[in-house]
Amino acid sequence: MKKILVINGPNINMLGLREPDIYGTKTFDDLLAFIGGAANDAGFEVQCFQSNSEGAIVDKIQQAYGIFDGIIINPAAYTHTSIAIPDALKAVGIPAVEVHLSDISQREAYRQISYTSEACQITIAGKGFEGYREAVYFFKSSMIQNK
Ligand code: DQA
Repeated sequence: MKKILVINGPNINMLGLREPDIYGTKTFDDLLAFIGGAANDAGFEVQCFQSNSEGAIVDKIQQAYGIFDGIIINPAAYTHTSIAIPDALKAVGIPAVEVHLSDISQREAYRQISYTSEACQITIAGKGFEGYREAVYFFKSSMIQNK
């Protein structure tokens, strides 16, 4: 069974409490259950990782080498600031999909720059939890094609 790693960055663990007008009222545990269900439906083994620390996210990406077949990443605020995260994705060469709950292209100017996107095959933004399902199914179709 192919393995997918889902990485969520800073403050995603605060879902439910955090700016519900932007991110909704569902909790981080709800998100984890949603991702688990979507991955299961698509026939993937999934591991979810969340950290508020950029270095821990870089470490996790490095450790994924040779273990995971795809990475789904919502780097949260590090999307707009981190060079180390896309560098790590490029270093391991694992196919990656970037996901954002909100539509960063329609928000503040500083959110409209993603350094992560150049290390990802596609970016899905503004679809809430559904974006993670789309990312899972992107891998399902691309992995079938590449078989
Ligand atoms: C986010 C968008 C980022 O700009 C923000 O810093 C987040 C969440 C999203 O999922 O919409 O923390 O990545």
